[in-house]
Amino acid sequence: MDRQEIIEKTELFVKQILNKDSTGHDWWHIHRVRNLAKRIAREEGADIFIVELAALLHDIGDYKFFQGDEETGAVKVREWLSSLEIPPLFIDKIVEITSKISFMHTLPAKGERSSKKNFPIPTLSKELMAVTDADRLDAMGAIGIARAFTYGGFFNRPIYDPAIKPSKSITKEEYKITEAPSINHFYEKLLKLKDMMHTKLGRKMAKRRHRFLNLFLKQFFKEWKGKM
Ligand code: ADP
Ligand code: NI
Repeated sequence: MDRQEIIEKTELFVKQILNKDSTGHDWWHIHRVRNLAKRIAREEGADIFIVELAALLHDIGDYKFFQGDEETGAVKVREWLSSLEIPPLFIDKIVEITSKISFMHTLPAKGERSSKKNFPIPTLSKELMAVTDADRLDAMGAIGIARAFTYGGFFNRPIYDPAIKPSKSITKEEYKITEAPSINHFYEKLLKLKDMMHTKLGRKMAKRRHRFLNLFLKQFFKEWKGKM
């Protein structure tokens, strides 16, 4: 099987799985992340084949698919890759990316808050950096806003409720179970992403998308107060 065939087969596999899902993990998110990740990968000199496969598979392994279980996802990704003719070293690299990509993993666990400096961020592979930045960029800007309210709508969350304050220092456990209004998600995740980019292009694009998030929030609150 050549590389093109592996990519095409994986694309079909992913489409099949995501077609059954409506929690905000849609194929077009994967499509955008794949293209953006490849663009970043080219600038960074990362391995495009690994990046493309990891981008395609990055949400298949999402814990949200498995009632919060974080292990099953990695097993699914490994199972799929093992059914193709891919060297084990490549498989390990791809599984590493799909397992580490989640924003949630960057949050402190309960009680860990003050000891962050004792846990230095490990060096990431160029491939992991490219896919992670691309995934995070897709949660920012106009698209990120559309996705946040789609997610909120699906889970019956209100748009905004002034009585429920966002928790900027949300822990991993709280993040997993929060039922807060969608606007809170901007403060709990989206506005933090700009400073979490790993690559030069990621940082550049994040800056512009971040600006748009702020512009949106400014207008939103003006309208909320009836000032505009
Ligand atoms: P990704 O696939 O980008 O890692 P997630 O799977 O965490 O993102 O979520 C899918 C989309 O829904 C993202 O754009 C994310 O910002 C948004 N989202 C996740 N949790 C919430 C929430 N509690 N409220 C509103 N939007 C959310
Ligand atoms: Ni994603």
